[in-house]
Amino acid sequence: MFWGEKMADLEGFREARDLTGGSCSCNGDFHVRGCNHLDWGMKNRISRIIKPDTGRTVMLAVDHGYFQGPTSGLEVMQDTLAPLAGYADCLMLTRGILRTSVSPGVQAPIVLRVSGGQSVLTELSNETLNVAVEDCVRLNVAGMALSMYVGAPYEHQTLVSLAKLIDAGHAVGIPILAVTAVGRDMARDARYLALSSRIAAEMGANIVKTYYCENFERVTQTCPVPIVMAGGKKLPEIEALEMAHNAVKRGAVGVDMGRNIFQSDCPVGMIKAVKSVVHHEEKPEKAIKIYEDEKKSLKI
Ligand code: R5P
Repeated sequence: MFWGEKMADLEGFREARDLTGGSCSCNGDFHVRGCNHLDWGMKNRISRIIKPDTGRTVMLAVDHGYFQGPTSGLEVMQDTLAPLAGYADCLMLTRGILRTSVSPGVQAPIVLRVSGGQSVLTELSNETLNVAVEDCVRLNVAGMALSMYVGAPYEHQTLVSLAKLIDAGHAVGIPILAVTAVGRDMARDARYLALSSRIAAEMGANIVKTYYCENFERVTQTCPVPIVMAGGKKLPEIEALEMAHNAVKRGAVGVDMGRNIFQSDCPVGMIKAVKSVVHHEEKPEKAIKIYEDEKKSLKI
């Protein structure tokens, strides 16, 4: 009889080994600060963004079009992304670009920008949540990113959006990256960036993206969750590498860099150099060689 046939599976059954005095748990200390209390799905997604082997990340930010339109280096997204996607630890972009310009076979995890509603032509900071969490689940994203504008005209609106996003993210296990955006006339100093970053963490953001500044350690030390450094405007390659180096030395877990990679005259060389600085603490003067060698190889 059917049940009898199943019983045969029990023949030769071996008891589980005795674990007295030991443990079978591999969920000990998590490699990302401020995240040990999170559920498995959250931790798994964060591990896709911040790599467990180094505790660091090089995110490639290519979301600029959400308010700037087709900026230099991002005119045709497939052309920019195809050579770089394999090197990025994570891609930060909008759902429109994800669906139209990124292969679903891409291995890099996605942090989706879910705030917007403004353009460079009007007053910046007037952003709100503009993607439903259901769509983020549908797109299988590893994280959701939203800009908050502390001290700017629409501060309250952006902070309320952040709170709603954090609730929605926690309900489905998707972590939140809060971007401390800076209004046009505001100083990017440690006092302001520490204030913004700390508010993001207090509200429940899992990762904070903020700008590099003097006394950057004041920003990282007073924020209980990991900080990734935003790249900012295009700098000479060596200066961008120095900034990344200083940021990780002063407590950042990595970078979320855009223009300093995709506007470089050798984007692949640049992302490789940034990765060596972030993951292997290579000195900028050595890492620049990686960029230069890659550039030379293109000319041969
Ligand atoms: C900032 O709010 C957006 O995410 C930007 O589009 C992105 O951070 C810019 O990256 P970068 O300053 O490195 O070009």
